[in-house]
Amino acid sequence: MEKYVINGGKKLQGEVEISGAKNAAVAIIPAALLVDGVCCIENMPQISDTDMLLTILKDLGAKVRLINKSTVEIDCTDVHNGDAPYDLMRKIRASYYLIGAMLGRFGAAKTTMPGGCNFGVRPIDQHIKGMTALGAEVEVKNGFVYAETRDGKLHGTRIYLDKVSVGATMNIIIAAALAQGRTIIENAAREPHIVDLANFLNSMGADIRGAGTDTVKINGVEKLHGGTYAIIPDQIEAGTYMVAAAATGGEVLVKNVIPRHLECISAKLRETGTIVQEYGDSVYIKGASNLRRTNVKTLPYPGFPTDMQPPMCVLLALAEGTSVMTEGVYDDRFKYVNELRKMGAEVTVDGRVAVIEGGKPLTGAPVHACDLRAGAAMVTAGLCASGTTVVEDIHFIERGYENFVGKLRALGADISLVNFPEEPDNADKVIAIG
Ligand code: EPZ
Repeated sequence: MEKYVINGGKKLQGEVEISGAKNAAVAIIPAALLVDGVCCIENMPQISDTDMLLTILKDLGAKVRLINKSTVEIDCTDVHNGDAPYDLMRKIRASYYLIGAMLGRFGAAKTTMPGGCNFGVRPIDQHIKGMTALGAEVEVKNGFVYAETRDGKLHGTRIYLDKVSVGATMNIIIAAALAQGRTIIENAAREPHIVDLANFLNSMGADIRGAGTDTVKINGVEKLHGGTYAIIPDQIEAGTYMVAAAATGGEVLVKNVIPRHLECISAKLRETGTIVQEYGDSVYIKGASNLRRTNVKTLPYPGFPTDMQPPMCVLLALAEGTSVMTEGVYDDRFKYVNELRKMGAEVTVDGRVAVIEGGKPLTGAPVHACDLRAGAAMVTAGLCASGTTVVEDIHFIERGYENFVGKLRALGADISLVNFPEEPDNADKVIAIG
């Protein structure tokens, strides 16, 4: 079993190049199903989530060609609405975008209920509300989502989202791109990757306005043509390196970013005494000798991103004093705190609120990655802890961070990917002792 082994206590120093945004890429790949032609997509992150979605598209008949490590050509001219690899769909949250894409392209869709990180209930009722409003009949049965239009087409309509949902906003944009007539999404999410999806579709001939605001208008078009598009840099990957640099007291230039997307993270880091300087496409971080406490509440964009909550909690665990982290998006996103406690962190969790008694030194320990961003938080804690930390379940981390070990080692971290022999089944040992 592969694990990360980290010997902590080294300041991160140097430069790191940020890859394409995972949460844009996992929507843009399914959206390519709508395009009658070749999409050349640049700055594609090399992560397992994108690998899985490209495999699913190939199984649907798309031609996928890797031009270089971060450029992929997808040709969906000859795709068919066949049975996709459901075992892959079940593994990722973003498989829900296949509902909108297959409905938009074929007028029918059969997918599994989405998988993804487990932090509380993650329904898709707003996705279903959107597809139904566009004229599809949607049924959830035996773990599958069945959707079908009455006349082979979706029809534009006005949709008010009961909850600000990134996925539902993007899924409806995808489904509405080829619908007949105009669709208006109200109370839409405003994340940068939503704007990126809209820009991708518009570069292929769609007519989408207002992405990035709470009202998105989509005028359905007859067809989409091929083209070339470059995915934006990953806001959360950038934030993860910014926080790791600050937490280790290091000095790092985070390159290939859009500073405006990082403003909420930069503002919070400055409150801890961290130096943050913004340049055109990079951000310079210099860690404070003594981190200051602060309070954080996660909110939809442009608020502090929920995906940055776990790494930020690690930073606050190192800051002298009491900090409060409030999770404003999910019901149960503090599972990883138990793992942090094994390293000496003093954190009390009550529902959506974590009270962090910071300033206690962290010590290395064997820990688990509970999910993608929790895993990044455990690595960040390991970088700051004295002694050795071994992080298990790293497959979660590899879903969303390209070349995580390589990029951290280039910054001076003592981290290695180590293959541990499978441990014998403990049950035998218990029987032997008994
Ligand atoms: C996307 O998840 C991201 N995943 C998540 O990133 C991110 O945490 C989240 O947006 C918020 O920014 C992808 O883009 C693949 P939501 P999504 O719909 O779309 C509730 C990562 O680490 N809700 O904005 O699932 C939901 O339960 C991952 O990269 C409904 O009630 O998030 C949550 O409380 C983790 N009904 C809130 O809305 C719905 O139909 C926001 O969820 C949909 C969502």
